[in-house]
Amino acid sequence: MRTMTCIEDLRQAAHRKVPRAFIDYAESGSYAEQTLAANRTDLERIKLRQRILHDVSQRTTQTTILGEPASMPLALAPIGLCGMQHGDGEILACRAAQAAGIPFTLSTMSICSIEDVASAVGKPFWFQLYVMKDRGYIRSLIERAAAAKCSALVLTVDLQVIGQRHRDIKNGMSVPPQIRLANLIDIATKPAWALSVLRGKRKTFGNIAGHYPGMESVTVLSKWIAEQFDATLSWKDVEWIRSIWPGKLILKGILDIEDAGIAAKSGASAIVVSNHGGRQLDGASSSISILPPIAEVVGSQIEVMFDGGIRSGQDIARALALGARSCMSGRAYIYGLGAGGQAGVARAIEIMRNELLTTMALMGVSRVEDIDRRVIASM
Ligand code: GLV
Repeated sequence: MRTMTCIEDLRQAAHRKVPRAFIDYAESGSYAEQTLAANRTDLERIKLRQRILHDVSQRTTQTTILGEPASMPLALAPIGLCGMQHGDGEILACRAAQAAGIPFTLSTMSICSIEDVASAVGKPFWFQLYVMKDRGYIRSLIERAAAAKCSALVLTVDLQVIGQRHRDIKNGMSVPPQIRLANLIDIATKPAWALSVLRGKRKTFGNIAGHYPGMESVTVLSKWIAEQFDATLSWKDVEWIRSIWPGKLILKGILDIEDAGIAAKSGASAIVVSNHGGRQLDGASSSISILPPIAEVVGSQIEVMFDGGIRSGQDIARALALGARSCMSGRAYIYGLGAGGQAGVARAIEIMRNELLTTMALMGVSRVEDIDRRVIASM
């Protein structure tokens, strides 16, 4: 892993190791992928100020996220099918995050279940919730997350319908993989992946298996989501979830100042400014371009997290400078997971932390709390 010096190295390694359908699933944006691309290009446009001759010998990336100590302002984002990038992927990524001292978020659409992860790791993790039509089932998922002592519920609010990802349809994306000749040939060239998935605890959606009979058999993911996810989801449901979830609530998928204002009064502890990694409304603003006005309006009322294109410590510094308290990153750690399991995720986190530490030094800043507008040269 030492020769993996940046997230791009991990990305290339993951491409060599993980079957196409799954790496495509993780990388895709919706439709023309304009918002996916904008997330990166708008981040890269932000230029940082190089400052000199400040004593930066005592730097630390240590901070708090939702009041809990964190070794850096980063949480691993919820990623569906994490356990298809590497067998037991959710457990491995959670272990790496916890060893590094940052939060891990388990997706509703994970392969390992809440209980699988809880019994395999030492500390609480966050659970991400998708709201499906069957509210009794949603209640039971919330109860399971509470029983597993999850320390926050991350409610995703931007996926009541799914933005089409062309490649998933072309790949016949399903879990477990569809037995088609092209898939079989692809998997045959990825023996280490096949072995890890074969040895993994589960081969299908761990939180859902058994509850929706038949869905394990080859249902194409987007079709299943279209049938089960609830397009009636509204602020009333947030109230309901707030009333039955005893812990911290994070609303993920806020991309509008008006929505942020409502979220700030909803009783949630934090919002995540996010366009779902460019996977939902194509043509929507990049996350980073909308972060400053949102942070300005609600930053003093609610903790603002940022998600959307984070691939480096420099990117984390950019988001913090524009008003985020902390960031989430999904693909960056998924590349690590595909490239090298737990060690790969650990490396992804370490790479971004080291980059942040060096970036802070070169910006003349010693504490993450001091990263603000003053470090921006131009946008
Ligand atoms: C689910 O979260 C997805 O974006 O596919």
